Amino acid sequence: MLYLGIETSCDETSVGIIENSSHNEWLTCRSCVIASQIPLHQLTGGVVPEVAAREHALKMIPVLTEALKKASLSLEKIDAIAVTQGPGLLSSLLVGTTCANTLSTILQKPLIPTNHIAGHIYANWIDGNGTAPQFPIVVLTASGGHNELVLMRDHHDFAELGATLDDAAGEAFDKVARLLELGYPGGPAIEKAAKNGNPHTIPLPRAWLEKNSYDFSFSGLKTAVLRVVTAELEKNGQLSPAFVNDVAASFQSSVVDVLSTKLLRAATAYNAKEIHLAGGVSANTALRSAITAKAQGFTFRFPQKMMYCTDNGAMIAAAGAFLHKIKQFHSGITIPRSSLPL
Ligand code: KG4
Ligand code: ZN
Repeated sequence: MLYLGIETSCDETSVGIIENSSHNEWLTCRSCVIASQIPLHQLTGGVVPEVAAREHALKMIPVLTEALKKASLSLEKIDAIAVTQGPGLLSSLLVGTTCANTLSTILQKPLIPTNHIAGHIYANWIDGNGTAPQFPIVVLTASGGHNELVLMRDHHDFAELGATLDDAAGEAFDKVARLLELGYPGGPAIEKAAKNGNPHTIPLPRAWLEKNSYDFSFSGLKTAVLRVVTAELEKNGQLSPAFVNDVAASFQSSVVDVLSTKLLRAATAYNAKEIHLAGGVSANTALRSAITAKAQGFTFRFPQKMMYCTDNGAMIAAAGAFLHKIKQFHSGITIPRSSLPL
C-alpha cells in the first residue's frame, strides 16, 4: 500500500510517500520532499509561529506536487493519508491537517492522524535491510521540542520511561549556539565547532538527577555555559574561535554523556533487544559514536538518512502505515475519515 505523510508541525513543510511490503516490515520511501524554513527563521534566531504558518501555507501544495512527481504517482494511487496532528505549533499544524482533511475527503481515502514523536520513532523503519526491528526496543527521542526515553514493546505501544524536566536536548543545542553566536539551528553548528575543540578545557556539569532517574535536565548546563561566556566577555571583551570551539566541545560532551548513559541503562533494565535513536539530535555523530561504543549486545539503529532525522513527511507516513495496519488488524475496520482532533 502507498501512504502519503504530511508534516507541518514546526519549521519544515514536508510530504513523504511510503510503500509497505507484504514480506517484511521494512518500509520503502518512494519520495520525501522537505521545504525547510531555516533561512527564514535565521533572520530572527528562532521560529516565529505566525511566520512559520504562513510559509507552510505557501509551500504545502508545491511540496505535495513535487513529492508525487518524484514518486511518479498520481494522487489517485495513494491508499491513505497520514498527517501530524501534534505536538507542534497550532497554526502550523492547521495547514497540514487542513490539506490532509481535504485530500481524504476528495479522494475518499482514510485519514490517519499521527503523533509527531511516533513519526520520529518510525523513521527507523524506513529503507532498512536485513532483519526488521525486534521488540522490546528502548528509544531515545531527542529534538528541539521533545526529549524522551521510550520503551516500545510492540508497534505503537509506547511507555515513557523518562523525559526532559526543562529544555529538550535540541533546544539546549539551539540556545547554547545562540550564546556562542553560532546561529540557528544550533545542533549542526555546535557539532561542527566541537570537532575543533577540546571537551576537557572548560569543564561543564552533567545533570544525572536522582539515582536511577531516566529524566533529563539541560537548563543547569545552559546556565553554566552562560556563566563561562559572560566571564570570558568580561575578561577579553570577545569570544575567540578557540574558546567557542572548546565550549561547544565541552557542552556536546556533557549532553552526549548523559543521553547515552541513560539510554544504555534503560535498555539493560528493560531487557531491550534494540536501542534506537530518533529526532533531530539523532543526526549528531558524536552521540551516535558514544552509543555505538557502549551498545554491545544490543542492535543499535538510527535513521538511514540524515533527512529522516529531522522533521519530514516520510516518518509520518511510516508511523501512519503501522497505525493503519494495527487498527485494521484489531477492529477489522479502516480508520474513518473524520475531522482531526487537535
Ligand atoms: O526533530 P526536529 O527537526 O524538530 C523538532 O521536532 O524539534 O529537531 C530539530 C532539532 C534542533 O534543535 C536542532 O538543533 C537539532 O535538532 N539538531 C541537532 C543536529 N541536527 C539537528 N542537534 C545536534 N546535532 C546535530 N547534528
Ligand atoms: Zn520533530
